[in-house]
Amino acid sequence: MKYGYFDDTRREYVITQPDTPLPWINYLGCQAYFGIISNTAGGYSFYRDARLRRLTRYRYNNAPYDLGGRYIYLRDNESSEFWSPSWQPTRHDLEKYECRHGMGYSIIGSQYKGIEARTRYFVPLDENLEIWQLTVTNHRSSPAKLSTFSVVEFCLWDAQDDATNFQRNFNIGQVEIEDEVIYHKTEYRERRDHFAYFATSSKSANFDTQREAFLGPYRGWESPQAVANGKLTNSVAHGWAPVGSHQVELHLAPGESKSIIFVLGYHENPKDQKFDPPNSQTINKKTVKLTIAKYLDQKNVDRAFEELRAYWEGVLGICQVETPDSHTNRMVNIWNAYQCMATFNMSRSASFYESGIGRGLGFRDSNQDLLGFVQMVPARARERIIDLASTQLPSGGAYHQYQPLTKRGNNDVGSNFNDDPHWLIIGVAAYLKETGDWSILDEPVPYDNEPGSETPLFEHLQRSFQYTLDRLGPHGLPLIGRADWNDCLNLNCFSDTPGQSFQTTTNKEGKVAESVFIAGLFVLAGGELAEIAQRRGLKDEASRYLAEVKKMDGTVRKHGWDGDWFLRAYDDFGNKVGSRECEEGKIFIESQGFCSLAGIGLEDGLAQKSMNSVRQHLATEHGIVLQQPPFSKYYLHLGEISSYPPGYKENAGIFCHNNPWVMIAETRLGNGDAAFDYYSRINPSARESISELHRCEPYVYAQMIAGKDAPTHGEAKNSWLTGTAAWNYYAITQWILGIRTSHDGLEIAPVIPSTWRGFKAVRKFRGVTYHIDVDREAEGNHVSLVVDGKAINGNIIPVPANGQTVVKVKATLGSAVAVAGSR
Ligand code: GLC
Ligand code: GLC
Repeated sequence: MKYGYFDDTRREYVITQPDTPLPWINYLGCQAYFGIISNTAGGYSFYRDARLRRLTRYRYNNAPYDLGGRYIYLRDNESSEFWSPSWQPTRHDLEKYECRHGMGYSIIGSQYKGIEARTRYFVPLDENLEIWQLTVTNHRSSPAKLSTFSVVEFCLWDAQDDATNFQRNFNIGQVEIEDEVIYHKTEYRERRDHFAYFATSSKSANFDTQREAFLGPYRGWESPQAVANGKLTNSVAHGWAPVGSHQVELHLAPGESKSIIFVLGYHENPKDQKFDPPNSQTINKKTVKLTIAKYLDQKNVDRAFEELRAYWEGVLGICQVETPDSHTNRMVNIWNAYQCMATFNMSRSASFYESGIGRGLGFRDSNQDLLGFVQMVPARARERIIDLASTQLPSGGAYHQYQPLTKRGNNDVGSNFNDDPHWLIIGVAAYLKETGDWSILDEPVPYDNEPGSETPLFEHLQRSFQYTLDRLGPHGLPLIGRADWNDCLNLNCFSDTPGQSFQTTTNKEGKVAESVFIAGLFVLAGGELAEIAQRRGLKDEASRYLAEVKKMDGTVRKHGWDGDWFLRAYDDFGNKVGSRECEEGKIFIESQGFCSLAGIGLEDGLAQKSMNSVRQHLATEHGIVLQQPPFSKYYLHLGEISSYPPGYKENAGIFCHNNPWVMIAETRLGNGDAAFDYYSRINPSARESISELHRCEPYVYAQMIAGKDAPTHGEAKNSWLTGTAAWNYYAITQWILGIRTSHDGLEIAPVIPSTWRGFKAVRKFRGVTYHIDVDREAEGNHVSLVVDGKAINGNIIPVPANGQTVVKVKATLGSAVAVAGSR
């Protein structure tokens, strides 16, 4: 069953029924001002940091789910009836309903008793504000006398404090109202120099700014008193709960349409120009008035919307493919790339499953996100790399996360996750291969943001690598520390106290438990680092890294191989985790995927064996589960992983983040059919037809799909903010379609399904547009390249030296005629 359809031409997902199984959301804004918006206009907005600069309030776990948002009410003043054109919060039986989630905008429209209302929500490029552009049309044969009410509930900035510190917060709310604009200025009188504003293009609006005046006592958003009465009360909030609401009268002749604009924005004043006049307590509004006026003008708003569309046209135009599979095309060309932008911007901070309060930007997560983002806006990727590396510790270790507003690392979700440092190498390598910008390695970057501690970025990578060498365990495998990629494999935690955080509790010294996954990561990152060192002329360094990599490869074969698959770890007692000797958790996906994709056992059959075991034990029709059998009870020595009921999350759920590791491993073994098969099982678009089971949005990946041991096998949870976005994008574009960035140029090495006759792609890379035409001539993955009419050796197209900006590539796949030098 479906709840909508893809409109690929407009790059939109069109939801045709408001009561989707879960709120299906979209993101507004892609730079500094952000909003989350559900298909019924639920959600909230913030500036840069969902925790520290929250503009509007949102309540999780409220019933019904998803209440509070960017609401508009229409009231028919003849019948006194009022309703919400976005369905929520009044939930009327609408005659027509449609939500179009597009690239950085959502359009929610409906018709009720002959009145059509459509609101286009978006954030203009380079502005810290959002626009609600409402158009109301009277389809009745008689005139309509309507009142329109807008409303937002302001958050008192720090979302955590806002949700808890009521004894203070009920006293501090302050607003100003001037020229129909509502200014929310709580704490502006003291240390804040920012405020929010809510404006309307209508010139004769009533307003309300005190929540109780708007809702009335003991009433909810579905039946605000002031709307029921047809009249806002011009309340001015002093303390309690400031809201912003405008009332605009609309008289429409039959067939007539009218538009109203609402603008919600964020503004900062220079510290010495906060007030006007200077010694007053009144906000200086001179600095923002022009901006507000600009966006209350339809022409400017329409232009800003066209600019946003053009921006996305450009960003998505960097990689466009035409394959025989429409789900692949749609995800690569539109939605997966779009989701990569969202994960880059949000990391794991703000979605309908991440509260915006709990997590900032993760060190591991943000580095991996680069794999799917770096081609889109390389300059921002560069900045992110520097920010991340600046939080690195002198030991090479990392804070697990940092707050985007302050850019400082913190220990809120722990540290000593011993895989963390390597992701920096992976992120930087991806950046170098995409851009060829080697200057980044010479950037002076501090440790722990400490001025004076700067070294070139390259040294950060060296310390990342050394970090593991300094922390090897009894078998010569990397010590796991707090956890590795799997945050929930807490082998040093031993927590028996309810409520204790698995991520910050340690009861063991950590000198025994080792991770085979980190060993695989070390091999991959070490290879990248060696290549970088080599190209910087550091031959000895490069050989040293390669020697360590080789040694680790050997250690994995010796102590990390279980006979048919890679082990997962050794626990604090030195016992195997992920072995046939174990009763539960005999085989894990992470080490199979990562060791194989890193190249361990490619030559001698171990990798292929490991893949066979994945297929036999872990693969399901809905994706590949994390481990088998699941943990039926809590194991003190394994930690959070065994805290989840079987089939969910890290306890044998389908963690979509690491399925692509297996896909990539399969391509490295030349198995295009297997790789693409796994890709399709979790592709959200390919799952659209089972939306009633999948439940999450069919246009973006979710972190987790319930595994085969769960009662709800196939049900997705935690959509949007997951490493799944970047890894799947990377797997399909760079490994299955095989359009791969490399230091020397664009590499073409498709490992596609045997039934595909070929595909076409356009890839912009280092200022050159490559038109790539792949044709299958015979079975197999052998590639012969003809570039601008000339056959070349090997798989890599060197970047043209002559300033040429368009290159035509003809790749023949499976050709029997071997070209010297190719794989
Ligand atoms: C979450 C975390 C990620 C971690 C994964 C597995 O997705 O954001 O960092 O690797 O869970 O535990
Ligand atoms: C929880 C989640 C896991 C996530 C971690 C981040 O353990 O289950 O997915 O990675 O929190 O701290």
